[in-house]
Amino acid sequence: MRTIDWVDGAIELIDQTRLPDELVTLRIETVDGLIDAIRRLAVRGAPALGVAGALGVALAAATCDDPAEAIARLRAARPTAVNLAWGVDQAAAHLPGFDAVLARALEIRDDDIAACRSMGEYGADLLAELAPVPVRIMTVCNTGGLAAVERGTALGVVRTLHERGGLAEALALETRPLLQGARLTTWELARMGAPHRLVVDAAGPYLLARGHADAVLIGADRIAANGDTANKIGSYALALGAKRAGVPFIVVAPETTVDTATPTGAAIEIEDRGAAEVVSVKGVPLAPPGTAALNPAFDVTPHELITAIVTDRRVVRLDRGETPSSVPPGPRR
Ligand code: MRU
Repeated sequence: MRTIDWVDGAIELIDQTRLPDELVTLRIETVDGLIDAIRRLAVRGAPALGVAGALGVALAAATCDDPAEAIARLRAARPTAVNLAWGVDQAAAHLPGFDAVLARALEIRDDDIAACRSMGEYGADLLAELAPVPVRIMTVCNTGGLAAVERGTALGVVRTLHERGGLAEALALETRPLLQGARLTTWELARMGAPHRLVVDAAGPYLLARGHADAVLIGADRIAANGDTANKIGSYALALGAKRAGVPFIVVAPETTVDTATPTGAAIEIEDRGAAEVVSVKGVPLAPPGTAALNPAFDVTPHELITAIVTDRRVVRLDRGETPSSVPPGPRR
């Protein structure tokens, strides 16, 4: 199953707003339709956004009178995941020819599939070194195949562990306010037949303190040159809890998420998605009318709290003083 693809002249993607109730594929034929899908999280997750951005440039080349204007809006549809701007820029470098743009976008799609397989191998090997076998993993948000083209990043490592017979349990945090963990991660874990339980976000650090997980695995939306990592809100609290409990805290992301042009996490723009998602769930109010809310979609985990960053080409041991800038990428697995 592919989360996003190019099919007969348009983008087809799984509508993640409809899961777990229904598995629905959206066919997207315009850049405006794609921007809307990105903004309302029908397609989401940093690697999937990179592929969406690249395929969106192909749509712009095929359908827009002013591709540059449409591409600029697409590039800015969400600010935090560096992959979206990266995918757009990679494909746009081949304009004005449609064929070359589409070829680059399809290459990015295929490369993402290979990258996720490689992260699974690097990550599962690292866990064999750092944690008991079989291992109990805690994770937040959704970092599985739905967040990429196939398999995923942190949840891709969980998949590889499960395939190797080395997964005792995955604990998925529900991930308020949009519940990517409750809706999407549990759906993926059930489909792969992996043992799992769902926990509320606030239980994460406490369960780590009580010894319920051997490692925390998260994805990333942007990794700064010093290793500071932007990821779904709640990641920072888990990192603090993991540090206190002495549990390895591992970031899993493709090389395309490492942004060495961003020196530290302080320079990462964090998307605020507005009050509506916080004060209601699926249209049902949770708070008195007019309640104000803050809704940062992501947080930044300082590099000091991260044990290691696993990409498709290397393992960066931050706990040993390494940084993404100090360790050169190696081969894919
Ligand atoms: O707001 P979302 O659902 O796009 O946030 C996604 C995350 O934070 C993921 O952890 C991250 O993009 C990595 S996905 C492999």
